[in-house]
Amino acid sequence: MRRPIYDMSVFKERRESLAARMKGGALVLASHPEYIRNNDVHYPYRQDSNFFYLTGFEEPESVFVFRPGQTPETILFVRPKDVMRETWDGFRYGPEATQTQFGVDKTYLISEFDKMIGELLRPCDRVYYRWNIDRDFDAKMLNILSEVRVLVGRSGRGHLPVHDAWELIGEQRLFKSLYDVGVMRKACEISSNAHIEAMRFTKPGVTERQVQGVLLGSFYMQNADREGYNSIVAAGANATTLHYVFNDQPCKDGDLLLIDAGAEYQMYTGDITRTFPINGKFTPAQRKVYDPLLALQKDLIARIKPGIPFRSLQEVTVDALTDIMIDLKLLEGSRQSLIDSQAFKRYYPHGVGHWLGMDVHDAGMSIVNGEPRLLEPGMAFTIEPGLYIPADDMNAPAELRGIGIRIEDNVIVTPSGCENLTASCPKEVHDLESIIGRRG
Ligand code: GLY
Ligand code: MN
Ligand code: MN
Repeated sequence: MRRPIYDMSVFKERRESLAARMKGGALVLASHPEYIRNNDVHYPYRQDSNFFYLTGFEEPESVFVFRPGQTPETILFVRPKDVMRETWDGFRYGPEATQTQFGVDKTYLISEFDKMIGELLRPCDRVYYRWNIDRDFDAKMLNILSEVRVLVGRSGRGHLPVHDAWELIGEQRLFKSLYDVGVMRKACEISSNAHIEAMRFTKPGVTERQVQGVLLGSFYMQNADREGYNSIVAAGANATTLHYVFNDQPCKDGDLLLIDAGAEYQMYTGDITRTFPINGKFTPAQRKVYDPLLALQKDLIARIKPGIPFRSLQEVTVDALTDIMIDLKLLEGSRQSLIDSQAFKRYYPHGVGHWLGMDVHDAGMSIVNGEPRLLEPGMAFTIEPGLYIPADDMNAPAELRGIGIRIEDNVIVTPSGCENLTASCPKEVHDLESIIGRRG
């Protein structure tokens, strides 16, 4: 029999913290749906982050019901044991082993869910659920709400109020525990090592796909679960596409290579971007963009500390990048007018960072009660300024056309500042130039 690879006390502690904020409510979480790629082949399965965060259970076709203060409190509905199906598709825990191995109060077959859920929700004042993730499950949920209303009879009560489960859990996921930070450090270390291997492999003539292969090989050799998101390996002007997806072009002498890739390790992901010259030596034109961008990226990291608004980092970025665009003769006019007219978005159309954790664009709100969120210890996010000059931009100086650069690190706020979890990944010009193309 398989055994869970995680310490179940982690999930129990998370549930206890969440319970304190649920105020008589019950949480209903469905596992992530499975998707067919073709015939009997599925896309690789990954559990829904919230479901995993609270249970550690990775099987599809499951539902977790959490009713703090009720008995039973934690309930998992799971697939049955099935010798034939397990021969084809692999091990299933089934209800009995799930209950003992995953430390929940009660387990049932998933086929019992429709019959039991009404009674389970009946004593609860509200339900936490996220609509619009799984439309089939949404339809089920609507029926459940009607059923619960009928169960309470002529009490005058309406439907159970439904509150957003992702907001509830997201607020907790935003603050990384010591355990979370430990796993994130590992995910970031694996990601950083893979970037270094990709830098060593890169030289004119290799393909974007081969570089992606080096990244993936390194992830798996370090026992990562998978890519945390589709790796972006963008040579030359491909780097001006923010989420470039093709990864199928040659890496040419004289061009830059932008790699945005992160390993997922024990369900947490890194998210690193580095941009470097394919032949190992930046050109003067490339340095004109790279140097001020790197200086800005380092300045942003130095500013991070508890109490500053997360949003202020974007404001600093927009100010600085607009100045850089003016210096580079990409834009003309005063800084303020170019910001007011949003002209800077032509070359910098995204945000400077996002929460990071189990999902690359992780859960958590950046505005709370209408106010910008202030940074607090335990919040993890990316810092990723970029500048992208389209190859066909006839307004841009010719030497800059087709240059796309992003530099992205992953940080966690500490009581006095921040820890850069991806500091081991080179980004200084001399460090990059001494690694690129140097295998072994
Ligand atoms: N890798 C996606 C991002 O940086 O947001
Ligand atoms: Mn990112
Ligand atoms: Mn990224």
